[in-house]
Amino acid sequence: MTATSNTAPNATPNATSNTASDTAPNASSKAAAPRAGKVTIVGAGPGAADLLTFRAARAIAEADVVIWAASLVREEVLEHARAGAEILDSASMSLEDVVAVYERASREGLAVARIHSGDPSLWGGTQEQVDRCAELGIEVEIVPGVSSFSAVAAIAGRELTIPEVAQSVILTRLGGGKTPMPPGEEVREFARHGTTMAVFLSAARSGQLAVELLEGGYPTDTPVVIAHQATWPDELVLRCTVGTLEETVKEHRLWKHTLFLVGPALSASGTRSHLYHPGHFHGHRRAEPAARRALRAARRASGVAGAPAARETVREAGGE
Ligand SMILES: C[S@@+](CC[C@H](N)C(=O)[O-])C[C@H]1O[C@@H](n2cnc3c(N)ncnc32)[C@H](O)[C@@H]1O
Repeated sequence: MTATSNTAPNATPNATSNTASDTAPNASSKAAAPRAGKVTIVGAGPGAADLLTFRAARAIAEADVVIWAASLVREEVLEHARAGAEILDSASMSLEDVVAVYERASREGLAVARIHSGDPSLWGGTQEQVDRCAELGIEVEIVPGVSSFSAVAAIAGRELTIPEVAQSVILTRLGGGKTPMPPGEEVREFARHGTTMAVFLSAARSGQLAVELLEGGYPTDTPVVIAHQATWPDELVLRCTVGTLEETVKEHRLWKHTLFLVGPALSASGTRSHLYHPGHFHGHRRAEPAARRALRAARRASGVAGAPAARETVREAGGE
């Protein structure tokens, strides 16, 4: 393994010996069961240290070994690591190197925190690690994190689902290079839906991205938010349109660690949700009669009243 290995900040000279392998059961405590190893895959959020969850911070604090992606995760997250914890930068580690650490953890009863950016359910190489842990018979837990797409929406001050404008969010990336897209998953195909799209891992091919978005059917004036290193100290957030996306990316020389939000929801205004309308009732709130009549009239006028009766029933029961 070529990974750099350090101990956590503030470690005392002897701190490296203060690991679970030293505190694991030994001859003096025959009754104690051997401590089992554990791998916790931790979502560290988009960058800002205070976007780490309490559960993530606890998993890092309890770890004997912390594996983190120095290029994607801010160093502040390591402040949660205990003095003496072994710190490995995954940048130079292959999956085999990481699995070797998990094997050691299994043998020696160590707790490993494997830190990923954002949420581990998205482009984190998470599944292959879960599968290897199953093969090793070591317990694995996943701690969710704040994904970059929700962090960028928050910075932009936008909700990604707007009534009657966009009710779906597509999380995707451009195909090509090392990662071909499965059939039917090209950005061009998803763009046909015209709803909100979050595009990861694609800044280096902004020309291709713009072409696929336009060919898929987004009008050129569709709003786009581009965020580079969102929540980091040097965060850059730009607003443009699908028509100006490529020139904006190139002007600012963005090629990595950049996320795109695309779709009409990013500028829609003047709409309101059905659920919080005073004319809507559900299990926890009565409708105001006048507002209920007004709501019904508005829905009839917009043609929504013709919707199937079953759908109406679900709505009124608070099911939507
Ligand atoms: C390997 S993927 C990991 C995604 C991560 N699991 C998540 O939920 O955000 C890395 C890509 O996520 C996006 N990304 C992650 N953190 C970001 C941030 N702080 N600002 C902008 N984009 C970010 C970029 O598109 C980047 O190329």
